[in-house]
Amino acid sequence: MLLGGKIAIVTGADSGIGRGIAVALTQAGAAVMINYHRNVERANTVLAEITGAGGKAQIMQGDVSVLAELNALVTATVAAFGRLDIMVNNAGFESHTSILDSSEDDFNSVIAVNLKGAFFGTQLAARQMINQGGGGRIINISSIHEDWPMPGNTPYSVSKGGIRMLTRTAGVELAPHGITVVGVGPGAVNTPINAATLADPAKKAALEGAIPTGRIAEPQDIADLVVWLASDQSRNVTATTFISDGGMTQYSAGL
Ligand code: BGC
Repeated sequence: MLLGGKIAIVTGADSGIGRGIAVALTQAGAAVMINYHRNVERANTVLAEITGAGGKAQIMQGDVSVLAELNALVTATVAAFGRLDIMVNNAGFESHTSILDSSEDDFNSVIAVNLKGAFFGTQLAARQMINQGGGGRIINISSIHEDWPMPGNTPYSVSKGGIRMLTRTAGVELAPHGITVVGVGPGAVNTPINAATLADPAKKAALEGAIPTGRIAEPQDIADLVVWLASDQSRNVTATTFISDGGMTQYSAGL
């Protein structure tokens, strides 16, 4: 198995892309700590799906924007499974506010979860990986909007821009330790974050029309890439972002 014997943490793994990643990592042989913030029922559903299929996982509550809670997540994972090989900093949300209408709280909360969570998730995972030896994989779930403005979603775009540079800088810093740091930048994916758009037929059609493949991705599309990035096959890849967007960011409507 590609990830047999590996131990992973996935933050925000109770829904959306994080859920897909947690399931896929266990299917590839890893044991996964499923972090969730508020919804224990959803986390238990993911856990049941994994264990029902013969996979290995546990759930743990924690707010990734609070350093002490992230620290507890890493400590509990090592206590439960013995080590940490793969850290997936996935938890994130968006305020859908522009530069003109973002409140201080919109800015602080989006940056705290998306960027601070990934920053300290990277730091704590790297410290653990260095202590135990043998290198590791840190995967930051970013967005096409790390480099492509999303008007009306400014704090989110800013947080993802920060993740882009976190990935590059930490990737360089941690390379001597055998730890790779890679970003994954999804385009439009069928998850709760896009529920309002996908529930509106006109908006859904407009979104599909903006994607050359004509297809809104499923979490599995992103999870398959993450499995590869978590494996030894990606050993030469670090300090960069993989975009998975059906060609969305290369498209222009033309005349
Ligand atoms: C955002 C979505 C958006 C998608 C494509 C994602 O990162 O969270 O709101 O629809 O990018 O633009």
